[in-house]
Amino acid sequence: MRVWVLNGPNLGRLGRRQPEIYGTTTHDELAELCGRWGHELGLEVETRQTNHEGEMLDWLNEAADLSVPVVLNAAAWTHYSLALYDACAQLTGPLVEVHISDPKQRPEEFRHTSHVEPHALATVAGQGIDGYRQALEIVSRSS
Ligand code: DQA
Repeated sequence: MRVWVLNGPNLGRLGRRQPEIYGTTTHDELAELCGRWGHELGLEVETRQTNHEGEMLDWLNEAADLSVPVVLNAAAWTHYSLALYDACAQLTGPLVEVHISDPKQRPEEFRHTSHVEPHALATVAGQGIDGYRQALEIVSRSS
């Protein structure tokens, strides 16, 4: 089974971006780990990252057309994008939301809202990079 791991804005700088919050694993390393974890679960994982909301919306629309399961870390878009809300609402395959930190435990109020959560099978948050492995496991169990 094919699965897309889709990462939103600023996650391309993983490993260098606020490592005290997001850790030291780079996005390339994360992509490799997701591929390996997916392989162990019998999944064919493709990991992508974009800083452009329209590109993310195109990917989600394509996932809906193809019924590809999605593991989504929409980063800051999670908290305010209604276009993202609509794109997630129309997905036809399973959706698992993932965050490296736990936005609901962070001090900024804006992080306490998620426009992905209402459409997700599950949310994995605050587990660091391992959260992606857990999200892939949830996807593999869902089908
Ligand atoms: C994040 C949490 C978001 O609040 C933040 O905007 C991010 C990363 C996470 O993975 O912990 O960019 O999604």
